[in-house]
Amino acid sequence: MHVWQFLFLPIVFGAPTRPGVTVQKSGLTVPDEYKQFREEVVQIFKDSYEPYRRHAFGHDELRPVTSRPSDEFSAWGATVVDSMSTMIIMGLTDYFKEAVAHASSVDFTSTKSWGTVSVFETTIRYVGGLLSAYELSDKKHPVLLRKAQDIADKLAYAFVGQNVIPYGHISFSDNNPKRETTNIAEAGSLSLEWEVLSKYTKNSTYAKLGVGAARHIATQEGCPIPGMAPQRIDPVSGKFANRYVTWGGEADSYFEYLIKYARLSNTKDKVFVQTWKTAVDSSIRKLLRDSITGVGAYLGEMDEQGEVRHVSSHLSCFHAGNWLLGGRLLNNETLIELASKLNDGCWNTYNSTSTGIGPESFAFVSSDGGYSGGGHVSESQLDFSKKHGFYITDPKYILRPEVLESNFHGWRVTGDTKYLDRAAAAIKSFKKHLKLPGRQGFSDITNVNVDGAARYGDKTESFWFAETLKYLYLTFDDPKHISLDDYVFNTECHPLKAPPALASYD
Ligand SMILES: *[C@@H]1O[C@H](CO)[C@@H](O)[C@H](O)[C@H]1NC(C)=O
Ligand SMILES: *[C@@H]1O[C@H](CO)[C@@H](O)[C@H](O)[C@H]1NC(C)=O
Ligand SMILES: *[C@@H]1O[C@H](CO)[C@@H](O)[C@H](O)[C@H]1NC(C)=O
Repeated sequence: MHVWQFLFLPIVFGAPTRPGVTVQKSGLTVPDEYKQFREEVVQIFKDSYEPYRRHAFGHDELRPVTSRPSDEFSAWGATVVDSMSTMIIMGLTDYFKEAVAHASSVDFTSTKSWGTVSVFETTIRYVGGLLSAYELSDKKHPVLLRKAQDIADKLAYAFVGQNVIPYGHISFSDNNPKRETTNIAEAGSLSLEWEVLSKYTKNSTYAKLGVGAARHIATQEGCPIPGMAPQRIDPVSGKFANRYVTWGGEADSYFEYLIKYARLSNTKDKVFVQTWKTAVDSSIRKLLRDSITGVGAYLGEMDEQGEVRHVSSHLSCFHAGNWLLGGRLLNNETLIELASKLNDGCWNTYNSTSTGIGPESFAFVSSDGGYSGGGHVSESQLDFSKKHGFYITDPKYILRPEVLESNFHGWRVTGDTKYLDRAAAAIKSFKKHLKLPGRQGFSDITNVNVDGAARYGDKTESFWFAETLKYLYLTFDDPKHISLDDYVFNTECHPLKAPPALASYD
């Protein structure tokens, strides 16, 4: 026998491995005419971050950074940590170095404040932000992992006694939780971050707690429609505490994480994928409607009486991106098509207003004459609805990402350049209506559909830096950079490194 034959044997006769499923359209590149927008987004990031940075690091006499997690951290203290992964992705090395130095200097284990912090918000912004930055900087800053662990060790006190469901808020000063009902979004979307933390610290407790809570919700009896857990849950009894069903607030990221956890962990436990599929299937049957103008589709919500309410929200609009991801992982074209209609419906809420920016919440006059549920409907709302297929119920824009998040998924999954046009249109509208005149800084606005000057709300949420600007940047970046085949995004848009994909998740 020749040596080369011997050497080849294991390869020739080895079991063929089936290639993993892919999420992104293969061979995708951003056409040249769109490339300038990536740099425009970097400029928006700098213009937004600079004034914050001057205050945060004490370079002037104004307010110092909040160096502890607190309920007001979304506006101030979280920005540095929440922005880190975006800085790395955009190549803003100096900002990143400064942020690492800052995070290293903060003692997250004690605080003089008696306020409580949200276990969910602190997990997705701080723990997720630190872990993602740790990975994206090639683990060169172990302090980021240590700080994530310090914080999670405090948050773990929210799991009391034998409770599988954590309380929603705890005090960092005495480790006491606020003993009240929580919701499935807060309890059910800790799984990604706490799983990754266990991987790097070799302490399995974090994953056991975080994943255990999600698993409990997925297996709990009493869903008003199959797979669709209602919003509220009681940490003591572990039972659902209301019957309201929605893909929006208080529920959203629980559903988002079911499929994402399956992808990030490659778990053999089928309950996460199965529950996600059942939830999507129920939603298609009960909640999905075409708009009356035929522009896109929406998912309604189901109230305590089991009536479909024809209402939706900016928050809910993550669903299109999540269904695109799940559709690819499950190799289901029907889901890709429906998700694309949901994407069109969400974008329509931007393209129909005078600013070109979408509102916080909206409602529909239903095609089947059903119950709208949007409260009193005025003549002008009815007129708007006839023209645009929806009407506005809360007109503010607080810099949320979800519509552009799903738009990013639309581009990477389908390769249709209409998603690039939409992202470019959003950048133009943001520069025109959110940038403070004569000053640096981007602000929320109180009404997306007024003629004349928009009114500023004077807040820059940290998710502007962590999510909205990162999704926009990645839309125009090389699709191989932070590919959806290599990373799973937590619900704050912090990419977490995924293992090679399985051949099927079904
Ligand atoms: C693992 O983490 C949990 C949660 O913070 C903690 O209670 C436990 O002591 C840790 N275990 C070890 C071996 O460090
Ligand atoms: C795709 O998903 C839809 C909606 O849940 C379902 O009805 C259909 O059977 C699925 N198709 C395949 C091929 O699994
Ligand atoms: C917005 O809607 C108008 C009218 O339907 C359409 O011509 C335009 O292409 C849309 N813009 C974007 C960016 O989708």
